[in-house]
Amino acid sequence: MTRLYLSNDTSARAAGADRLAQAWAHVPDVELVRTSSRGAFFLEPLVERDRPGGRMAWPNAKPEDLPNILAWVGGTPVDDIPFLADQRRATFENFGITRPLSLEEYQRRGGLKGLERAVSLAPDAIVQELKRSQLRGRGGAAFPVWTKWQVAKDQAAEQKYVVANADEGDAGTYCDRMIMEGEPFRLIEGMLICAKAIGATRGYIYCRQEYPAAAQTLREALTIAERAGLLAVEGIPVHLDVFLGAGSYVCGEETALLESLEGRRGVVRAKPPYPALSGLYEKPTIVSNVLTFATVPSILARGGAWHASLGTDQSRGTMTLQVGGRVKQPGLVEIPFGATLAEVIERFGGGMAPGARFKAVQVGGPLGSLFPASGLDIPICYDAFARAGAILGHGGIVVYDDATDMLDLARHFMAFTADESCGKCTPCRIGSVRGREILEQLQAGRGRSGDLDLLADLSETMKAASLCALGQRAPYPVLTAIEHFPGEFRKN
Ligand SMILES: Cc1cc2nc3c(=O)[nH]c(=O)nc-3n(C[C@H](O)[C@H](O)[C@H](O)COP(=O)(O)O)c2cc1C
Repeated sequence: MTRLYLSNDTSARAAGADRLAQAWAHVPDVELVRTSSRGAFFLEPLVERDRPGGRMAWPNAKPEDLPNILAWVGGTPVDDIPFLADQRRATFENFGITRPLSLEEYQRRGGLKGLERAVSLAPDAIVQELKRSQLRGRGGAAFPVWTKWQVAKDQAAEQKYVVANADEGDAGTYCDRMIMEGEPFRLIEGMLICAKAIGATRGYIYCRQEYPAAAQTLREALTIAERAGLLAVEGIPVHLDVFLGAGSYVCGEETALLESLEGRRGVVRAKPPYPALSGLYEKPTIVSNVLTFATVPSILARGGAWHASLGTDQSRGTMTLQVGGRVKQPGLVEIPFGATLAEVIERFGGGMAPGARFKAVQVGGPLGSLFPASGLDIPICYDAFARAGAILGHGGIVVYDDATDMLDLARHFMAFTADESCGKCTPCRIGSVRGREILEQLQAGRGRSGDLDLLADLSETMKAASLCALGQRAPYPVLTAIEHFPGEFRKN
């Protein structure tokens, strides 16, 4: 029997993996194993086969390639694919290798070691390990994880909650989805470690409703974990459930998410109090990003010092980037913090797609700043981005080519915020609409002198007075587009 590996990740399936699976379903002596994805989407569907010393891969495989694969013709050693070999994977180390719902394979490759260690430690010691690791939240705000855990742990409450933020609304990001579809036990393990540290007995995974495969895989994984007796800490059951999101970008904001979880419209709450003190049903709640939770098991298993040894001064560990847009090689990249944006686009993204010329790159989703070619030497770390008034966000990197109309792009971002604003605070609710109108007028050739000053003034108000980062950050892509491409805004 020849065993072939093929990803079952949504992106691999979109690239044709299911077509191969159907075509090869009844081939005698061929066993097709559906795995997670390596995240090299430009190579999907990627078929792999075991060989002593490491797997061989057949990128962009087609149904008619099977005879070659069976005859070992035309393959490449996986370890020789530069996109993968040049990464330093920790959280995604098993991706493309294991089956998402095999708890046994997860354990064989080091899974559950972090939880085992956490169970042997006092809550304080777990928090100290997180402190040593210097892990910062990967959902966007980059807040030190241990601080939140400490606050929630120190509260005396009969009920505490742990909530995974799986709303993943930033355009061009998908690493949370890949974790949920590809290694759900890693997320569950991270949540259980957190539950043990803070004393929570209930938790939710607030999963973006546009991720049906992720939600389904998670539900199955929770059933398997339950049957294996995993969903308990020191004999006390920990109930974890999947909750489908409300289909709104702002529901990714932690307090709007909690409102939505409680069954109301996803409207932002004023902070403080922060969720670690008063969150779900006003109880101490840790809301953390999926990637943050998924990073925790290795920290407990390998030690906080191991995590802190990677990266730069203020940004420790690895950063998971999702490189997309007009690059040759779109995909998921996990590397220690510190490489420059140019290196990531060239070395991993493979440079520009054929025929395309670089114009700008947006980092950090729809609230992220735009960088022109002259800004690409910025290192990928929280402090350098903060100094530049930019954000790394959830690691989305979207490259635009020179066919992009920057005025239209700026209008699109303001329109996005106007659509997605929860409406609670005036600067965001009204400001985004007025901002969109100014840009629409410019686009229609009806701009007036002073419009750009008005937009700058409006932006200052939104940044200073909005209740959450949606309104506070919405002006950034617009202002950086105007700053770097002023000619496109003065043509009227
Ligand atoms: C408009 C808006 C959308 C957000 N969307 C997400 C999201 O989809 N996923 C996420 O983890 N954090 C999102 N955040 C950040 C959360 O409010 C919060 O900081 C995060 O879940 C905390 O987890 P972390 O500490 O692991 O980063 C969003 C924030 C804002 C203002």
